[in-house]
Amino acid sequence: MKRLRKKTRKKPIPRLRYPLTKSLALVGLMGAGKTTVGMRLARRLGIPFVDSDAEIEVAAGHTISEIFEKFGEQNFRDGERKVIDRLISGPNIVLGTGGGAFMDENTRKTLKAKAITIWLRADIELLVERTSRRNTRPLLKKGNPRQILRDLAAKRYPVYAEADICVESGAGAHEEVVNTIIHRLNHYLAEERNRNKGDNNDQPGNR
Ligand code: S3P
Repeated sequence: MKRLRKKTRKKPIPRLRYPLTKSLALVGLMGAGKTTVGMRLARRLGIPFVDSDAEIEVAAGHTISEIFEKFGEQNFRDGERKVIDRLISGPNIVLGTGGGAFMDENTRKTLKAKAITIWLRADIELLVERTSRRNTRPLLKKGNPRQILRDLAAKRYPVYAEADICVESGAGAHEEVVNTIIHRLNHYLAEERNRNKGDNNDQPGNR
């Protein structure tokens, strides 16, 4: 007797249903996956991925650690603000921002005006594990990384929550996080279209 092979139906890969109106900026704590998820998201959308920390290093000719050591955090934040503004003022990209960028009031204003902001939220234990793989983050060298990440989360999560979209970035496959982002983006862009239609109908000529 012929053995019947069970049909396994693959989940369709979500696609963006509307054209992107702005760049996408990923925000969130160190280790949340802004670079790894960001690169995959950019590939899926066919636009470049740019990492703001890497761009700052090129512009300054120093590593992030050197900038913090030699010139201080404020100097780094000023450079970060300028670099991010330049990057999101050009053609659409997926931008991975440094964890503190969205905490700077002016950088946040720029990001909110010129990009669709996406908060990648992750559990502290996952962040501790991921950030322990590299020792390039000056803020985590100042004490116990777990405690530092906890304190940063308490301070930063209410501000990250101002992002347009919030996505959980768990220990699962990064491609799944990308799928969720694309679903949420479709909702966001559909709502934006409706808002714009509403605005156009409110124009005096249309009344
Ligand atoms: C920082 C995060 C880092 C980097 C710098 C400061 C922060 O970027 O910008 O060390 O304040 O959280 P990642 O979030 O990409 O690690």
